[in-house]
Amino acid sequence: MGGERGKETVTGYIAQLRAKIHYHNYRYYVLDEPEISDAEYDRIFVELEELESKYPELITPDSPTQRIGAKPVAEFGTYEHSIPMLSLNSVNTEMAVRDFDERVRRMLGVEEIEYVVEPKIDGLAMELVYENGVFIVGSTRGDGKTGENITQNLKTVKTLPLCILSETVPLLEVRGEVFIPVSKFKELNDLLGAKGAKMFANPRNAAAGSVRQLDSRVTAARPLDFFAYGIGRTEGETFSTQWDVLMHLRKIGFKVSPLIRRFKEFEDVITYHEEVKEKRDELDYEIDGMVVKVNLIEYQERLGLISRSPRWAIAYKFPAREEFTTVNDIVVQVGRTGALTPVAILAPVQISGVTVSRATLHNEDELRRKDVRIGDTVVVERAGDVIPEVVSVIKSKRTGAEKEFRMPDRCPICGAEVLKEGPIVRCIGVSCTAQLKERLKHFASLRAMNIDGLGEKVIEQLCDRELISDAADLFFLTKRDLLKLDRMGDKSARKIMNALEKSKHATLSRLIYALGIRHVGAHTATLLADNFGDMKALQNAGYDDLVSILEVGPEVAKSVILFFEQGGTKDLLGELERAGVWYEKKEAATEAKLKGQTFVFTGRITIAREEAKSLVEQLGGKVASSVSKKTDYVVAGEEAGSKREKAEKLGVRLISEAEFMEIIKDG
Ligand code: IVH
Repeated sequence: MGGERGKETVTGYIAQLRAKIHYHNYRYYVLDEPEISDAEYDRIFVELEELESKYPELITPDSPTQRIGAKPVAEFGTYEHSIPMLSLNSVNTEMAVRDFDERVRRMLGVEEIEYVVEPKIDGLAMELVYENGVFIVGSTRGDGKTGENITQNLKTVKTLPLCILSETVPLLEVRGEVFIPVSKFKELNDLLGAKGAKMFANPRNAAAGSVRQLDSRVTAARPLDFFAYGIGRTEGETFSTQWDVLMHLRKIGFKVSPLIRRFKEFEDVITYHEEVKEKRDELDYEIDGMVVKVNLIEYQERLGLISRSPRWAIAYKFPAREEFTTVNDIVVQVGRTGALTPVAILAPVQISGVTVSRATLHNEDELRRKDVRIGDTVVVERAGDVIPEVVSVIKSKRTGAEKEFRMPDRCPICGAEVLKEGPIVRCIGVSCTAQLKERLKHFASLRAMNIDGLGEKVIEQLCDRELISDAADLFFLTKRDLLKLDRMGDKSARKIMNALEKSKHATLSRLIYALGIRHVGAHTATLLADNFGDMKALQNAGYDDLVSILEVGPEVAKSVILFFEQGGTKDLLGELERAGVWYEKKEAATEAKLKGQTFVFTGRITIAREEAKSLVEQLGGKVASSVSKKTDYVVAGEEAGSKREKAEKLGVRLISEAEFMEIIKDG
């Protein structure tokens, strides 16, 4: 802001900046549809920070600058909920949930009941108090009556509005669940593991550990997220149904799960439970069942409570994700960075429909902390598509015959020496084939270069026969080379050659991700690609350029710089360029067939969602999870529901899967 202005003008201007930032936060974090670039956002943010440091008396508790965390506290204060936070009775069987419906009908004496079905998010319940639209206090559920006041920590959660959008009321208490997305949980655990810090057994524990940090700056660095599902006390607004509550929460800026539905037929409740159970692994957050709620609030009031649970709601749980099994052996796996990971070989056990026979033990420190021995009976957990984990050992089952495990002092694959970096033992062999194979598998994987047909078996053979020694070599392979491999027919070889050719046009973000830079996941790779535009610019980026990107921290920045400093990196990039993989990426992107087009997939389609997404992205398009006016195509499969309706309402083009395939053909 140029020149000196009166305090009043400054106050007004600061308010404008805050409103802008709140709005863009909402677009970015809640809707996942940003309107401005990160750089533009940063500019507004820095301007606000500067003004606030000049006029500290003008800082308000709902300013977006207050999300970064404050000084540590010795302990949390308590907070009394004005209306108790209830718990839910839960059932595991279809019969029991039908009983619930029967009971509700009988007690109300009505035939037709409408139910709202919501996912039961596996996080921690929170209450957020908004006075005149501003977030004032946030607390945990505690014993239902009194929780802990963790306002400072909750302010750091990016999807939690610090002030309500649109018209405000004197008082609104919002209830919902704080959680950590599954993908972010993996990254967090990797980071903690690398530092030698204690890792979390599952996303829920990670969320619990993060939200109760006495130092809110630690909380600020954790990828917490929030879904709203209800309200407590309100003043100035009343609602007649649970559905209206959810719609209102969404309207005023909260994230509400896209999986909410309402049904008049109880049969549909049961079918929907089945449907979500099937796609549970595709979600980026853990859910342990569906909550079935009577929609009409008048009915809810008539039904009332029984001990601390409402009679109008029930949790219809999914099968457990944890099982007992025994550890038959402990082996060591060498990853693409050379890290030696101890892995438990288990007596195979079914966990919610998937056979699990291996579970990670992360590193030696974790293995010691949990004291896992060969022969132990253990609890194994599977969360989303995360690698299964040994959660704990049932020590009472020990017979004395269990054997302790020692990490080897040489790489079990190449025999090179190992180096201990904190808790991580790393193979330092420069030509360790285990590392090479892992790097190549990552390079070719679906979310990276997506080289169809180039699976684990093919890569292993190519390495073992010394046909390739880095990723660039892949592009110099001939069909003849491929045909030398076991079980490789003409058709498969042709498919791989085509896929290799196609992958040369992969987007820059995919290529960055495929390089396997430490701490650079798919999301960070996209940020880097968007900010630097081409590989050369990224190669030349300095520390300050990197950390100036929203969401890129010092750890990532250092890792990127270190990666590009390696002599091997320069050689690899040179070879990739010679192979035609990343030359003039910018131009390639503008020519992309689906550039600027947004797709939404709904209903049952025959290809996997990941694959569909990858197809669209390869051609420069985007896939969104919800339909808006900006959506170009909704690809609707069988049983497409609300998204189809919304597309019809907004006049967005609806196409079938076959039509979609037609569009992307010869991409
Ligand atoms: S409603 C009216 N809805 O489940 C009863 N709870 O056992 C109050 N939870 O403490 C809860 N998702 O932590 C409700 N969609 C949802 C939920 C949900 C997760 C958790 C919440 C609560 C526990 C109840």
